Amino acid sequence: MRNTKACLFDLDGVIVDTAVYHFQAWRRLANELGFDFTEHQNEQLKGISRMESLELILGWGNVTLSEEEKVAWATRKNAWYLDLVKQMTPDEVLKGVPEFLTSLRANNIKIALGSASKNSKLILERINMLDYFDAIIDGNNITKGKPDPQVFLMGAEATNCKPEECVVFEDAVAGVQAGKAGGMKVIGVGSADILNEADFVIAGFEEMTIDRLF
Ligand code: G6P
Ligand code: MG
Repeated sequence: MRNTKACLFDLDGVIVDTAVYHFQAWRRLANELGFDFTEHQNEQLKGISRMESLELILGWGNVTLSEEEKVAWATRKNAWYLDLVKQMTPDEVLKGVPEFLTSLRANNIKIALGSASKNSKLILERINMLDYFDAIIDGNNITKGKPDPQVFLMGAEATNCKPEECVVFEDAVAGVQAGKAGGMKVIGVGSADILNEADFVIAGFEEMTIDRLF
């Protein structure tokens, strides 16, 4: 018998690939501050909050800013990022995601979002996915970022499920750790080498069916 009552989804890299837009906007910030960073370094920013990402990037460029300047640059970055987000269309939803979410609904499994992003509702609206979600927990609700389990524990609570009845879908190492720390099953989305702490890893949702839940 299936134990899973809710599936908790990260947004960026699981539902839609916004990492490319984050990368473009962060890179513009770095370039304007006089340095550059690689796509490989960008991997470390996945799942990490806006201000923590900024701290990491400034470290790579050896740039020191006052708290006020940091807030101003983070605001600028977000405006550049939102310019890209506003051009997103529903065909950017990752393959197999709508089909999988539809099958969850058909089987009475709750669906929640657990994202560090403060822009998650706007993104879900742009890609026409808002209606699938029973609950949305995002950067506007949490006080502790991944790998802290807070975002997923709040998702479990919002769907009236116990952590052990929840399955988390994550593309970031910090997110997999957050789900495990919350006592949940975690299915990694991406590379099994990178997400080796997950219960198992799928390359994409074309591979996922509800029979593979726990
Ligand atoms: C997600 C992304 C991160 C991003 C964070 C905050 O977790 O994976 O790369 O920094 O959300 O996003 P925001 O839209 O609030 O800047
Ligand atoms: Mg992600």
